[in-house]
Amino acid sequence: MAEKKFYITTPIFYANAELHLGHTYTLVLSDVLARYHRSIGDKTFFLTGSDEHGDKIVRAAQKEDIGPQAFVNKNVAKMQELIKELGISNDLFIRTSNQEHHWPGAKKLWHALEEAGDIYKGTYKGLYCIGCESFITEKELVNGKCPLHDTEPEHIEEENYFFKLSKYGPEIKRLLLNGEFKITPQSRVNEIVSLISGANGESGLGDVSISRPERAIPWGIPAPNDPTQLMYVWCDALSNYISALGYGTDNEENFRTFWPADIQILGKDILRFHALLWPAFLLSARIPLPRELLVHGFVNSGGKKMSKSLGNVLSPGEFISEYGRDALRYYLTREVSPVEDWDLTREKFKEVYNANLANGLGNLVSRTLKMAEQYFGGVVTGDATRVPSIKSKMSAVETFGDIAGMNIPYIITNDILPRYHKHMSASEINKGADVIWELIGHLDQFVTDYEPFKLVKTDKKATEAIIWGLLYGLREVGRMLVPIMPDTAEKIEILVGASSALADEAVFNTKALTEPLFKRRD
Ligand code: MSP
Repeated sequence: MAEKKFYITTPIFYANAELHLGHTYTLVLSDVLARYHRSIGDKTFFLTGSDEHGDKIVRAAQKEDIGPQAFVNKNVAKMQELIKELGISNDLFIRTSNQEHHWPGAKKLWHALEEAGDIYKGTYKGLYCIGCESFITEKELVNGKCPLHDTEPEHIEEENYFFKLSKYGPEIKRLLLNGEFKITPQSRVNEIVSLISGANGESGLGDVSISRPERAIPWGIPAPNDPTQLMYVWCDALSNYISALGYGTDNEENFRTFWPADIQILGKDILRFHALLWPAFLLSARIPLPRELLVHGFVNSGGKKMSKSLGNVLSPGEFISEYGRDALRYYLTREVSPVEDWDLTREKFKEVYNANLANGLGNLVSRTLKMAEQYFGGVVTGDATRVPSIKSKMSAVETFGDIAGMNIPYIITNDILPRYHKHMSASEINKGADVIWELIGHLDQFVTDYEPFKLVKTDKKATEAIIWGLLYGLREVGRMLVPIMPDTAEKIEILVGASSALADEAVFNTKALTEPLFKRRD
């Protein structure tokens, strides 16, 4: 069978400020999925990058009194530093100011739209929100302001190139409804379909402007054949998903291998660009659509979307230095729903950290290793058939050596792993993580059921089978944690010291824990 490929993208981040926890969420969610797909053998390409053009950037640079290139270079360096600190495993970081890698793809896409007869010149008159880098209608304003940025839009009247978005509404709707172009969660499909349908069954989509006149500062990709206009920043930005793969350059091999994207991750604030403009561009250019958009909710702070313009941001760096990156990755994976809004507080973070990492996982690892060391000098021999069943899982009388009973290896193979893979492959990473903690719960229960610290005084052989079962379970916990908490996963693998990769027979040569995996915070 041919190797399966998996192409996953994050939106590219505005290079006007430091990334906060909202952006971090997009990154971690995507990284967990990329790492999961690599772990099951998919040929994976994971893309992230920076969105460096547009008015927002130019104005922010002006405020700091430096040129836009120097300004974005500085911010992108910080962004890349954070990405490294978070353990994000992207294969490429695309920058829209990169004239060799990005611009050829953006221009080729523009030419393709032109060739399809979908670009024409016109006059735009209306409102523009700099925060959104988007035209906005009166209807969308709340008290005269953009509800997302809480700022008044600007009045604009200018000559632009327009794209015939209206032409593609019906086709996008058809593909959404028949599932060829999937959006998760389904409620977002309804949102887009009703936008396309508009009122009274008439098409709700108008054409959109895709260029802006070049102003004082030539910061953007010049519109092909007309240097007085710059490509509209969303048109420039969306093309990163294919320019990154070499589209438009003389090496399009990655584009042929990886496009269409298997999943594109984005927050709900930029759904319309990805679910209307992006597929319309692709249809016009006769390029296949991405298979799925996964739309996550907002990380709120004090009940409002965390955002620089609202001044309510929490920095990921704070959590990383206080708790470690795996703790932050854990929280973002398991403690929130990928498709709903959620609020982050320092108190909640600490509570969850203590309960599930310091106590739950950390405690189990340290107890197990201590017993292995103390009773067996760190060498624990056994096999899957000798692990007793978990008492609370059994309906009948417990018997040692009962293969088909509900022992740990049996539960892992028949219940835990199938459910873990089902959720992870459906991008339900919080539910996938829940399954890991279910296994941790079983292992705790197993200790409660057999009390190996007492049993060891009367039956060493039986105790060894129990400890072996715990180590076997922990090794599996470590494996399942690979996409979510890569550092912890690696530590667990080393600590349990399994002699072979085979599941059923192994000698565990455990290592002593020098410090707890997760220190309790009070
Ligand atoms: N540059 C555009 C995307 C262009 S993609 C062709 C952009 N950049 S952004 O930096 O503002 O946002 C990047 C991602 O971070 C988006 O998916 C956005 O939804 C996400 N988030 C930014 N703030 C967020 C929260 N407070 N909560 C969750 N995600 C949020 O949009």
